[in-house]
Order: sequence, then C-alpha cells, then structure tokens
Amino acid sequence: MATIEVVQGDILAENVDAVVTAANESLLGGGGVDGAIHRAAGPRLAEAGAAIAPCDPGDAKATPAFDLDPPVRHVIHTVGPVWEGGDQGEAELLASCYRRSLQVADELAAQSVAFPAIATGVYGFPSELAARIAVETIRATPSRVERIRLVAFDGSTRDLLRAALAAG
Ligand code: APR
Repeated sequence: MATIEVVQGDILAENVDAVVTAANESLLGGGGVDGAIHRAAGPRLAEAGAAIAPCDPGDAKATPAFDLDPPVRHVIHTVGPVWEGGDQGEAELLASCYRRSLQVADELAAQSVAFPAIATGVYGFPSELAARIAVETIRATPSRVERIRLVAFDGSTRDLLRAALAAG
C-alpha cells in the first residue's frame, strides 16, 4: 500500500520518478502547473505531447520528463474536467484522472509520483470535493507505486488535502 503525503510547495521541487501535470487535451502546455512543468521540461515536452495527443478528460498519458531535474523521469499528463456545476459527471472524470495516472505510473514502474490538485485552478473544480476525490480514489486504486505526494500550491488546498487524508 502506498504512503500518501500532503505537502505545500512547487511540484517542480519534488524528487519523484514521475510528476503528474494538469493538462489540456492538446498536451501542448498552458498556464498553471502545466505551464510551470512545460517551462522547466523544455520545448521537447510539448513536441512529445503533440505526438500522443489528444488526451481525453479523465485519461492520462506519459512522456519523458526531458529537462526536468532527476530523479524525475516521466511526466504523466492528465486532463481534468472543467467544472460545470457538478451534474456533468465531473466527479467521476476527476476520479478517473487519479486512477488512470496511477495505472500509467504502474506501466512505467514508477515507485514515486507527485500529483498537483488537478482541475482546481483554471478548471474551477471545488477544492474540498476535489481533495476528497483525490484521496478516496488513490486509496481505492490498486497500484505498485510506493510513495504518493499530493502537492498543494497554497495553504488552503494543503489543509483540505490533509483533512481528506485524516478523514479516511
Ligand atoms: N506546483 C504545484 N501546484 C501548482 C503549481 C506548481 N508549480 N502551479 C499551480 N498549481 C496548482 C494550482 O494552484 C491548482 O491548485 O495546480 C492546481 C491546478 O490548477 P491548474 O494548473 O490551473 O490546472 P487545472 O485547473 O486542471 O486547469 C488545467 O489550465 O494550465 C492550463 O493547460 C492547462 O488548460 C489546462 C488547464
């Protein structure tokens, strides 16, 4: 069973085998955490993303991490749901992002993975519900990943993730 840790910080500082980015379907990069990861990984990340795009909401696809500092070797691109009020299947799509990312991590034999708070920025997914979905889905997904880091960019997201972890 993987250990799950909640930290506050920049996902680019994480020493893990794979980082998950909150992408859009083109996998060409964008703003937010996706923009930060693409800037750090260099232009080859968008080229590799374009070669395997599109990525459907709820799905996850991997590329090399290119210029990211080791030990990061992989970027797992997952596309969260745009929040449209909650009755468009958003919760299941977000759960699928975490589930598919762990499945892809297993295919890569990644032993440690860092997740941002997928869909809670530009895509507007409510942070408290997203935190619960993240923790519940990770706990319910069989995986050989040993260490999972949930990286909050701000204190309130960190507290929500910690509360979700404690509620389990
Ligand atoms: N490290 C960790 N978390 C970060 C970082 C970072 N460097 N930068 C931003 N975040 C956090 C945000 O604060 C938010 O909590 O990542 C979470 C997800 O927010 P977004 O990056 O806006 O992602 P999302 O809401 O899924 O929207 C995806 O935005 O950037 C574009 O290309 C992306 O179109 C896609 C959309």
